[in-house]
Amino acid sequence: MSNLKITLESFIEEACENIRRESAGRPVLCALSGGVDSAVCAVLAHRSVGDKLTCLFVDTGFMRKDEGAQVTALFRDTYAINLIRIDAEERFLAKLTGVTEPERKRKIIGEEFIRVFEEEARKLGDVGCLVQGTIYPDVIESGADGHKPVKAHHNVGGMPLTLDFEAVIEPIRLLYKEEVRECGRKLGLPEAFVNRQPFPGPGLAVRCLGELTKPKLDLLRNADTIFREEIEKVGLHKEIQQYSAILPGIQSVGVRHDERCYEETLVLRAITTQDFVTADYVRLPYELIDTVVKRITSEVPGINRVVYDVTPKPPATVEWE
Ligand code: XMP
Repeated sequence: MSNLKITLESFIEEACENIRRESAGRPVLCALSGGVDSAVCAVLAHRSVGDKLTCLFVDTGFMRKDEGAQVTALFRDTYAINLIRIDAEERFLAKLTGVTEPERKRKIIGEEFIRVFEEEARKLGDVGCLVQGTIYPDVIESGADGHKPVKAHHNVGGMPLTLDFEAVIEPIRLLYKEEVRECGRKLGLPEAFVNRQPFPGPGLAVRCLGELTKPKLDLLRNADTIFREEIEKVGLHKEIQQYSAILPGIQSVGVRHDERCYEETLVLRAITTQDFVTADYVRLPYELIDTVVKRITSEVPGINRVVYDVTPKPPATVEWE
């Protein structure tokens, strides 16, 4: 334990020193996504360069319910970090009109994200450095560092090559998720935030198969909220690494008020994992599943069928896209 502490402390010191050196006195921008990875990067950068840091939080429209407000409150109010929030939902959806192929969706979202950044950076004037929260599994699965690509991860493979920034700093590139969490704790991030389950850069977009539309995303957001609420109510969020709802784009026949209905199918997924490179599905209690299914099919209009994904990784991945 004491060794871990020393290692963590020296890691933090070194990361701050690297950010300081690489940014070389220039203003620094950091992308906040709502997840623990970018939060750790932002706090490291804030420690390192203080007011030279500006955090940009792009609300893509693919966030979970109330996430934007929570992120803003934590960083602006608690940490007093200079934070700019950009509402880019319409812009993202416009770019994605008619796009159904998963890798193209990821690439478009990754590129648009960077474009928004570049635009905001230009508005801010001279900003030379970008700090971002790429972690080791992203590097492996994007085929960087000599690994075979699995998916184009938002933070790495999806990034266009023509960046306007003089330096891109990735302070946690060599860390696994649990190490990032430890780092967050050490940096004083609130436990609720540190323990937050991982959420992919492209957000709900990778859980909504087919063309992305606001009504579909709202449906998914509402169902996801119910699933998360019920998992948290029974305390399972402390044991499960990731749980989510997916809209696979399958409609099926059902019965509602004695009448035929033709509505969306929702998939629930909950996994346990050490490193997110392999994962197993969680044997959720049937009572919990009952409650979630009852609530979703009655509280979210448009969903008449709920299924549970019992596939490990491999061969499936955690996310569906
Ligand atoms: P997969 O689906 O590849 O997911 O088994 C493994 C872990 O990575 C997360 N994930 C992402 N994280 N950008 C991210 O920052 C992405 O594009 C992305 N895609 C997947 C996923 O949620 C899981 O925790």
